[in-house]
Amino acid sequence: MLPLADTFQRKFYYLRLSITDVCNFRCTYCLPDGYKPNKERSAFLSVDEISRVAQAFGELGTSKIRLTGGEPSMRRDFTEIITAIHDQPAIKQIAMTTNGYRLAKEAANWRMAGLTSVNVSLDSLDARQFQQITGQNKFQEVMAGIDACFDAGFPTVKINVVLMKHLTQQLPTFLAWIKYRSIQLRFIELMETGEGSHYFNQHHLSGEQIRGQLLAMGWQRRASEPEAGPAQIFSHPDYQGEIGLIMPYDKHFCESCNRLRVSAIGQLHLCLFGENGITLRDLLQSDTQQTALQERIRISLIEKKQTHFLHQGMTGLARNLSYIGG
Ligand code: GTP
Ligand code: 5AD
Ligand code: SF4
Repeated sequence: MLPLADTFQRKFYYLRLSITDVCNFRCTYCLPDGYKPNKERSAFLSVDEISRVAQAFGELGTSKIRLTGGEPSMRRDFTEIITAIHDQPAIKQIAMTTNGYRLAKEAANWRMAGLTSVNVSLDSLDARQFQQITGQNKFQEVMAGIDACFDAGFPTVKINVVLMKHLTQQLPTFLAWIKYRSIQLRFIELMETGEGSHYFNQHHLSGEQIRGQLLAMGWQRRASEPEAGPAQIFSHPDYQGEIGLIMPYDKHFCESCNRLRVSAIGQLHLCLFGENGITLRDLLQSDTQQTALQERIRISLIEKKQTHFLHQGMTGLARNLSYIGG
């Protein structure tokens, strides 16, 4: 079968699948008041439903699924979910984006179940500041979790750092940290969310500014792999680690879009920004619905826009990223 493609010839081999909205952290830019259960929302996808999503996308050319949330490991059946996706022969990479709090205990089990890579959110290397940002006193656990990933045999770990003004002082500490570690440190430009315009104006630090500093220190942009996403990657001869810059406000950001999203209640989202999603759940109830499900996914792609709405003169994400998993 032809791989999924949109009307701008972008190919989609990568699915970001959110499996829960629940999170136990309260990151100031995402869930400042903590997770609040939403009675209007139906239950999250079951393991069988997730398995059918993976089968449908796999048969449509998807080879990588990233599990997101909320915090994906808040699901008690998380290992079972990895196993169910691993059972789909087309899916060669199973990644997760996590706040890291369960990694120290579980990294090895998850790797055995079929997880192939881990991205950890870590916005500060200072334990006190970490607590101020996340609302949790779990800095040591997260650091131990990162070590546990290497011990479990993951060849590398990606660390997500949201760019905020305080980072200017933290930059040397972060750089020293990756000097002898095979870590890809990714600086993500803060995105304005629906509720957070005041926060955004107070904290936003431009990716261009960090880019300028890195170039001045001898970091050099290197070519990305052909199927890589929108991060710009930089390396330096004196550093084992690398740096990725994710700048969603850059006007070329969407040209390399390679991903689709499914939310924890089974809505297909063609972009992180803007739309309410297309329901898939009614077609996730039986294996006999696979053809109809795949057809709906393929047809939906006609609607995918060339760029996200920040480039169409609007500002702000409609919701916090904990809903759609970034
Ligand atoms: P890889 O799969 O390793 O390439 O990483 P990734 O960047 O796709 O995954 P991760 O979950 O670590 O993403 C980090 C963050 O980058 C997300 O949470 C978002 O904040 C941002 N991001 C990822 N994809 C997109 C996208 O398509 N659009 C925008 N605007 N931001 C994105
Ligand atoms: N802007 C940029 N990144 C964000 N994340 C969550 N909310 C935002 C935001 N408003 C990041 C987290 C995590 C990833 C899933 O999304 O730091 O690494
Ligand atoms: Fe939880 Fe991630 Fe949002 Fe932090 S950014 S509150 S860890 S979902």
